[in-house]
Amino acid sequence: MNRLSALAALLLVSAGAPALAAPATPAPILTTAEARDALTYARPEIARVTHVALDLTADFASKQMRGTATLDILAAPGAKEVVLDDKGLVIDTITDARGNRLNWSVGKADTYKGAPLTVRIGTARRIVIGYRSQPSASALGWLPPELTAGKRKPYLFSQGQAIENRSWIPTQDSPGIRQTWEARIAVPADLTAVMSGERLTPKGEPGPAGMKRYRFRMTHPVPPYLIASAIGDIAFRPLGPRTGVYAEPVTLAAAAKELDDTEKMVTAAESLYGPYRWGRYDLLVLPPSFPYGGMENPTLTFLTPTMFTGDKANVDVVAHELAHSWSGNLVTNATWSDTWLNEGFTTYFENRIDEIVYGTERAATLADLSWDDLQRDLKEAKPAATRLHGEPEELYGQLAYDKGSTFLRTIERTVGRARWDAYLRSYFDRHAFQPQTTAGFLADLRANLIRGDRDLEAKLKLDDWAYKPGLPDSAVHVRSATLAKVDESIRAVEAGAPIASLPTAGWGTQEWQRFLNGLPRTLPQARLAELDRTLGLSASPNAYVRSAWLVLAIGNRYPPAVASAEEYLPRIGRMLLIRPVYRALAEQGDWGMPIARRIYARARPVYHPVTAASVDKILGRKE
Ligand code: BES
Ligand code: ZN
Repeated sequence: MNRLSALAALLLVSAGAPALAAPATPAPILTTAEARDALTYARPEIARVTHVALDLTADFASKQMRGTATLDILAAPGAKEVVLDDKGLVIDTITDARGNRLNWSVGKADTYKGAPLTVRIGTARRIVIGYRSQPSASALGWLPPELTAGKRKPYLFSQGQAIENRSWIPTQDSPGIRQTWEARIAVPADLTAVMSGERLTPKGEPGPAGMKRYRFRMTHPVPPYLIASAIGDIAFRPLGPRTGVYAEPVTLAAAAKELDDTEKMVTAAESLYGPYRWGRYDLLVLPPSFPYGGMENPTLTFLTPTMFTGDKANVDVVAHELAHSWSGNLVTNATWSDTWLNEGFTTYFENRIDEIVYGTERAATLADLSWDDLQRDLKEAKPAATRLHGEPEELYGQLAYDKGSTFLRTIERTVGRARWDAYLRSYFDRHAFQPQTTAGFLADLRANLIRGDRDLEAKLKLDDWAYKPGLPDSAVHVRSATLAKVDESIRAVEAGAPIASLPTAGWGTQEWQRFLNGLPRTLPQARLAELDRTLGLSASPNAYVRSAWLVLAIGNRYPPAVASAEEYLPRIGRMLLIRPVYRALAEQGDWGMPIARRIYARARPVYHPVTAASVDKILGRKE
């Protein structure tokens, strides 16, 4: 055995090996061909990071995180270098643990992936990187006080998924390379820091002049996209024995009220697929520029404030992010080509939690809407982009979510719930704290569920689901009676009924989405005005309603939609709710493009870098 294959043997996952979560034990990594991550420069088969210790100061004046990252490295005997991912970091020095300087170099940069940072480690197995992030770091949203709810203090939040953390943490930024971590973060004394791990100093400790210091740690090996931090005027309120919510003081009470089913959701999730393994499950409500609906940062889910509509209509976001504590954080997509293993599993699991907490009709309503999204994506996407496993840049929209969850639901209906649930639970146990590939999951299904049953194998069409475009005809479509009633309102509108006669009282987000997305795409101006006047759509405080309405209204060049978009777009950063509006404007060419550009000129400076990059693409703006 040569040296490299000796290390490979050390690092290789052996199928069925018991999962170890002890802090000192490096998590195994897959090194099969399909597990190769094209979005990292790391060469983990030669040397890989096992632990990251951050010691950083948040400098709001210069918009920089500054300090050191100390990395523990597991290296092949004789390995001379370790390769890290670096997206625009400003590196001062790199030394070994005793302070001896090490040579390092940064290779050619790609705008998306960043550059390889190669450190000549010699015999060192611990290195200390002195560095700072740039103000434009793509993971970091530095917000002035005006962009917070309280409007008095600045705010910072990070968003790591998929490959943004390399803009503020120098490590091997690949979902297949698990690392434990710890952090010390110094912040202005009037702010609070939180992170996606155990919060060791809830109130902070005295730090350098005028600052407070917070300490955190994560003793489970996690993929590094799950390291996350937020700093701001943040208060806490408990929700249950192991659940609670962090938010700005002015939003805390309303958020806590709407999130009061969180503890029930954790219990429901555990009843399905085994113990919650992360200790606490807390939620953090971010300012509206947060680019996503939610982000499953371990122990601390990040949430958009757009989900709070006063009626709990959107708490499926919490069920979703909670479900990632199993599908995603425990068993992780080995590469971003396997995204559906995170998002499709989670969308399925989320719906099971919704069903336990809110009943079958509520779950059916959400599943039926997901089906609508799937049909729309299948229609709009190029066939090659409708595969579950594919190149990350090619995968289309929410397909990984909706096709992935439909795949798992179809298996469930084929083998029966009891058998499927037992299998899934054992799957999470057997692969806990390990990366997984599409091929690995299919092999596991065959070994532990199908077990040579030819009939079942034929029925399940696993390879069609995973690797082929489109949807097998066995796909299960869950239908909702609630939404079927909404469809009657759509037909009434089509038949010319007065809008005031529609039974919209008591409609929540899902009913409105079905209704607005189901209306004919072309409507006379008078009809749009009647809809708007009767239902208050242009002024709706519900961002989901506003987004769906604006798409319809802009598609018809309905003039009052312009002022509504002007007001709405710059204050919301959640991509799912603003991208369709920008796209609708862009599709209106001569009429819409100038409006979009004018609004975006004002909005872009207040968007998170991830949101800005994605709207840039829609409007054909080059940086
Ligand atoms: N992990 C995702 C967010 C994400 C996806 C971040 C891809 C970066 C790249 C999160 O769990 C998610 O899916 N959020 C959804 C909400 C959910 C209820 C479907 C979102 O942001 O809309
Ligand atoms: Zn998700």
